[in-house]
Amino acid sequence: MILASDTARRGSRSDESPGSTDEPPIIALSNIVKSYKMGGEDVMATRGISLTVARGEFVAIMGASGSGKSTLMNIMGCLDVPTSGHYHLDGVNIRSLADRALSRIRNRKIGFVFQGFNLIPRMSALQNVELPMAYAGIKPAERRQRAIVALSLVGLGGRLEHVSSELSGGQQQRVAIARAISTNPALILADEPTGTLDTQSSVELMTIFSNLHAHGRTIVMITHEHDVAAYASRVVEVRDGMIKSDHVQRALAPAPSRIGQSGTTTIDADEFEG
Ligand SMILES: Nc1ncnc2c1ncn2[C@@H]1O[C@H](COP(=O)(O)OP(=O)(O)OP(=O)(O)O)[C@@H](O)[C@H]1O
Ligand SMILES: [Mg+2]
Repeated sequence: MILASDTARRGSRSDESPGSTDEPPIIALSNIVKSYKMGGEDVMATRGISLTVARGEFVAIMGASGSGKSTLMNIMGCLDVPTSGHYHLDGVNIRSLADRALSRIRNRKIGFVFQGFNLIPRMSALQNVELPMAYAGIKPAERRQRAIVALSLVGLGGRLEHVSSELSGGQQQRVAIARAISTNPALILADEPTGTLDTQSSVELMTIFSNLHAHGRTIVMITHEHDVAAYASRVVEVRDGMIKSDHVQRALAPAPSRIGQSGTTTIDADEFEG
């Protein structure tokens, strides 16, 4: 996928947004090893990854297929536990938590955007966005209100009652983003969010992510595409279960968005500042 030739738009904001020093990093991974037993053999998905992500960073994780990116993200998202090593999420040692506390912290602190959208097919956009808020214990009226705001922010204010099959791929991915941000999470994790999208939808998606980043959200996103990684403030490359390179870059400023021009709403991540 080739995004617009927009190197000219680079440089409209600061290179990176490091968290203030008195806050713990959102993510602190220390020597994370994950191995799977397969037919008597150990498959090493990660081989000792240490990575710190400060509040406000937008990190792209890149690397070949099978290099361990999703494994790492599943651990960051508390969807999987490492074989060895330590993970502190926003200062909390994950290993110290019982299951219920872990799912509570996951629901409150993390918004997930996965490739393939993971929307529930027969539910409307509104219901899909409300669901994780129900798990997070937010009351029905507030859930509804926040879901409407989140969907409006991603340009879907006119599609609230549509079920997934009545939405395009890009629109479904935007529902997934609305769902991820509606709980006001400290951290947004995205595994190849543009993987199935056409160029225009990818640009719109990255515009939303850029705006969230510009408003202080912390985002970790896996991508295979350099054009997509260009929107991040830092690129971490994983190879064979280890970090091969890690560098800060000037994040590409987003293209002007088409979303909202049809009269629904414009994207303004200000409303999400918590
Ligand atoms: N549940 C599992 N059981 C056994 N092996 C696994 C499991 N999950 C992942 N692996 C192995 O761990 C390695 C890393 O997988 P992972 O899914 O993290 O790769 P990835 O970098 O996300 O790849 P891709 O870009 O193809 O999504 C691979 O060799 C994979 O086969
Ligand atoms: Mg993967």
